[in-house]
Amino acid sequence: MNRVHIKTYGCQMNERDSEAVAAMLRARGYRIVGSEDECDVMLLNTCSVREAAEQKAIGKAANIAHRKKKNPDFVLGILGCMAQNRGAALLDQLPDVDLIVGTQKFHQVPDYLDNLRAAREAGVPIAETIIDIAEEAGSQNTIKDHYLPEAGENGGGEVVPQVNAFVSIQQGCNMDCAFCIVPKTRGDERSRPMDDIVAECRLLAARGVKEITLLGQIVTSYGRRDYAHTDGISPFVQLIERVHEIEGIERIRFTSPHPRGFKDDLAQAYGRLPKLCEYVHLPMQSGSDRILKAMNRPYSRERYKEIVDSLRAVRADMYFSTDIIVGFPGETDEEFEQTRELFEACNYDMAYIFKYSIRSGTPAADMGDQISDEVKEHRNAVLLDILRKNSERRNAELLGTVEEVLVEGPDKTGKRFTGRTRGNRVCIFDANPRLIGQLVPLKIERGSVSTLYGELVLEGVDQMNGVERSPRPTF
Ligand code: 5AD
Repeated sequence: MNRVHIKTYGCQMNERDSEAVAAMLRARGYRIVGSEDECDVMLLNTCSVREAAEQKAIGKAANIAHRKKKNPDFVLGILGCMAQNRGAALLDQLPDVDLIVGTQKFHQVPDYLDNLRAAREAGVPIAETIIDIAEEAGSQNTIKDHYLPEAGENGGGEVVPQVNAFVSIQQGCNMDCAFCIVPKTRGDERSRPMDDIVAECRLLAARGVKEITLLGQIVTSYGRRDYAHTDGISPFVQLIERVHEIEGIERIRFTSPHPRGFKDDLAQAYGRLPKLCEYVHLPMQSGSDRILKAMNRPYSRERYKEIVDSLRAVRADMYFSTDIIVGFPGETDEEFEQTRELFEACNYDMAYIFKYSIRSGTPAADMGDQISDEVKEHRNAVLLDILRKNSERRNAELLGTVEEVLVEGPDKTGKRFTGRTRGNRVCIFDANPRLIGQLVPLKIERGSVSTLYGELVLEGVDQMNGVERSPRPTF
């Protein structure tokens, strides 16, 4: 009765929260299983950022709740942002849910499951759903455990070592963008102590992790109330410097930043910290000054482009991705045209394009002048087309070049291997399992919109990892 399956919706922060819950549950004796058909407990870790994400999770929960008819002991829990956003109101649609746990209470999940289990074992009927969506001081410090697979788990004998890890550095956001539900679902901005984050990264490095992605809703604001700038260096860049010093960590990434946080200290960090990968996710949201103002985004299109140019001045080969919302209330054709123009000028490698979705309780929900679905769809398609062309152009440039790839493990087929370039492009190639966790030179042979395919350049493997190895890996 202790097999738990966790299904995660939404962003990397949610993925990280689910991983921490999995680690905490395993420490309590629960088994985390990959199959939702073979679990006794199903936890949906949810997203609220758009209405569609909430509806998807509600549909799934309604579907899964049927299982309780056949098996009354089956436990269904809803965690995370939608739990926080909707709370007890979820019971109107989902009366059979056992557990509703918000974003500041993930660490309570093991206790709640233990309680449910104990009650069932004692034959006590559970009348009420457990609902906990309270705020908790210090909850940002509870997302720290990592779920590193163990031998024998899920029936497998071999363990694929973990190569990359997400590290939560902060929770919440104080920016109040007019469209965004996150301040409601994640609460006020709270940072973890720098020493704790560095200790966690050291531990991960000692376990073989090579790439760290620092995570938060607004990472560039990290520690701004807790630490002083030193010599013009912000607390966020100080944190990157400290992670950079850790032996064994080869690559550092972060998400999500705010354009406002890209001051000179961060731009210069790309020039002096070689482990900081030349890939920046820089949410633009809109290329129209009027819409940016209505969104309560404190920068102009000129400033945004200046940031992109300043980063490319430090690293000519910088890769950019972005978030765009099309169809924000009142967005005219001319204003969208400005977004299109800036989108084209920035030459993104990747972009997440969203059709504006009304989130009740946010300022934009009451703005009126909503844009029709057809117009949103059209604007979405225009930007996707530019993105596809960028991708094809980039692939053509990469053909025949050699990229540094960090080998992560087997690909989906289990026959080949997967890894990513410093620019965050996924690559597929043939390799030996011994190369997992190593930086390898890969000659790019072809590319699809999102994936590159190539062949290892074997002579370069040892040099890239700075070690002489004997015997050399054979294939
Ligand atoms: N509608 C559409 N997209 C949204 N995002 C946030 N709120 C909304 C909304 N109401 C997008 C933003 C943000 C990303 C995570 O989701 O682009 O950067």
